[in-house]
This record gives sequence, C-alpha cells and structure tokens, in this order.
Amino acid sequence: MIISRIYTTLSFLILTNAVFAQADLRQIKLKERYRDFFTIGAAITPMALRSEELHLIESQFSGITAENAMKMGPIHPQPFRFNWGPADSLLAFATRSHLRMRGHTLVWHSQTPKWLFEGEDGKQVNKEILLQRIHDHIDSVVGRYKGKIYAWDVVNEAISDQANEFYRSSLFYQICGEEYIEKAFQWAHAADPSALLFYNDYNEIDPVKRKKIIEMVTRLRAKGVPIHGIGLQAHWSIYAPSTEVLDKTLEDFSKVGLPLHVTELDISVYKKEGRRDRMPSDSLTAYTPEREALQVAMYERVFAAFRKHRSSIQSVTFWNISDRRSWLDNFPVVGRKDHPLLFDAALQPKKAFFSVINF
Ligand code: GLA
Repeated sequence: MIISRIYTTLSFLILTNAVFAQADLRQIKLKERYRDFFTIGAAITPMALRSEELHLIESQFSGITAENAMKMGPIHPQPFRFNWGPADSLLAFATRSHLRMRGHTLVWHSQTPKWLFEGEDGKQVNKEILLQRIHDHIDSVVGRYKGKIYAWDVVNEAISDQANEFYRSSLFYQICGEEYIEKAFQWAHAADPSALLFYNDYNEIDPVKRKKIIEMVTRLRAKGVPIHGIGLQAHWSIYAPSTEVLDKTLEDFSKVGLPLHVTELDISVYKKEGRRDRMPSDSLTAYTPEREALQVAMYERVFAAFRKHRSSIQSVTFWNISDRRSWLDNFPVVGRKDHPLLFDAALQPKKAFFSVINF
C-alpha cells in the first residue's frame, strides 16, 4: 500500500516535471537559444509580412533572406527596368525588426530573365555583351543595397551535378566560360566592399560535387578573387545525409578556412527524387509518426553537427518559415504536401523544434 502510494506520487512528480519541462521549452526562442552560435534565418516573401507568420519571423529568427524578390528575374525583369518594391519592403522590415539580411542571388541559371541572353535581333548575345549586362545588374542591385545587405550569394549553382562535368552547362557558362564567376565576385566587391560574398550550391553532401565546389573556391581564392564564404543550401531529407556524411561534409568545407553559411535548410519527409507527376500512391505519403520520428532525429543530428562546427558556421537559414507553405509542397511532385520545417501549418513548434533547442 505504502509502496504503491510512493510510486503514484513519484509518477505524478515525473509527469508534472515533464509537462513543466515542455512548457519551459515552449518559452525558448530559436534565435535566443542559438544567439552564441549563429544567426538563425528564414527565407521569406513580402506576403509573409502581411500574414500570421510575421510574428513567428520576428520572435524566432534573427535574419531573413528574400525567397524570390532579389533574384534576377523578379528584380530586373526588363533591360534597365528594376522592380525594387518587394526587395525594398523586405529590407525595410529587416531594418525595423533588427534582423540581418542576406542577399540572394546575383547570378543563377534559373529564374533569369530571357532578355539577358538576347540581343535586339532576338539572337543570343556574345560574351562581351553578356558580361556587360551581368556587370550592370550586379552594380545596380548590390549598389542599391550597399551597407545594408551583410552577405550576398553572388553565384548560385555553377557546379555540375554530373560526375564527369565540372561546371554546369548554363547559358552563362556556354557564352562566357568560367570567367563570369570571378567577374561576378569582383563586380559585387566593387559595388559594396563591406558585403561578405558567397558561392552557394546544393547537393553539397555528394562527395564528387563537394570536391568540385571546394576546388573551384580554392582556385578563386588563389587568384585573389574576393570570395569570403561558402553557402551550403542543405535541402536535405529524413533519409539523408547520414551522420557520417554530414560530419564529413562539414569537415571538408571547414578545412577550406572560409566562413560557412547554411543558406536554405529544410528536411523533406520524402526521399529526394527528380521531378515527376503525382501518382495514386502519393495519397499515402502523409506525415506519419514514423516520418515525424525520423525528422526529429535528423534535425537533432543536423543541429548537433552544426554546433560541433560552430567555429566555421556563422549562419543557418531555413528555406521558408513553417509547414503552412514550403516550395517542397510542389516540388518535385506537383501537389504533394511536404512538412520540412520546425513549425507546423498552425505555426506551432513541432517535436523537431524541441529536439533542436533542447541540448
Ligand atoms: C534553389 C535556390 C533557391 C530556391 C530553391 C527552391 O535552392 O537557390 O533560391 O529557388 O532552389 O525554391
């Protein structure tokens, strides 16, 4: 009898402690927990500023990136015509809310306006004209935000995913060769000497691609090109990278000796695959308890690894804010919902959130 009472009291105490612990953890904000480690950012759109997500951005994050507003297509849709409004509004918000802002991105093969590569005759422009246009674009955009954007993704995704090809065969590369890369850094540096300049890419966990990224960055540095850091996109999944690959990835990049920014973190609850149509079996791909548990474990591992490499990593940015909306909702499978972030669609912290702050 007495023993059973003691047991009941003990269970009650353990339970209330657990509830308290959870309640306490809910008070903790991501940006505060990581204040001594790195800036915690989110990629956002101007629409988010008019939504309930606004409060989440201000309370949990210490930095932002424009999800689209500063990309070449949206910001420079026609020759000599810039669409500054959306980017300006994000920057004004960052300034008001004391958030640091990363610039994304100056030269990228995707979301690039068609006019950039075309002459008045509709034919493809030559190297000289394209380089001049890249120069003018960088000079205008970086110049406008001089002293306000603390870091720029200058060149995005210039390395090929094919093992037997070094550079991606983009129009930039086809027309200019590799020269556009170093020029982009030089022009960005000239437009804002105080901005930190990054090379940014995905699939950095692949050893072959990683080696190429490191080789290119090392070559650029040896030539005296102003490159100040490497951006690791970190679009990962609950199935990869493994702890070993993650550690090796961060170790290899750390050895380069440049600051690292994790620029586009999300952890998809699906296997990474190519673009495809939705199939009937996709209706079964819900956010199951198994997927959730794998995601919690992956987020825990990923942040443990980031903390371990804190001397190299200066910033960790999530690609979007909450599971209410993610680019992965439609990619690579159109219409399939993903759940890749730390806050759910109701903007509440997920179990993965607690695994990230509870250390
Ligand atoms: C790449 C780009 C980002 C974004 C994501 C997907 O990673 O760098 O700007 O477009 O793809 O949304």
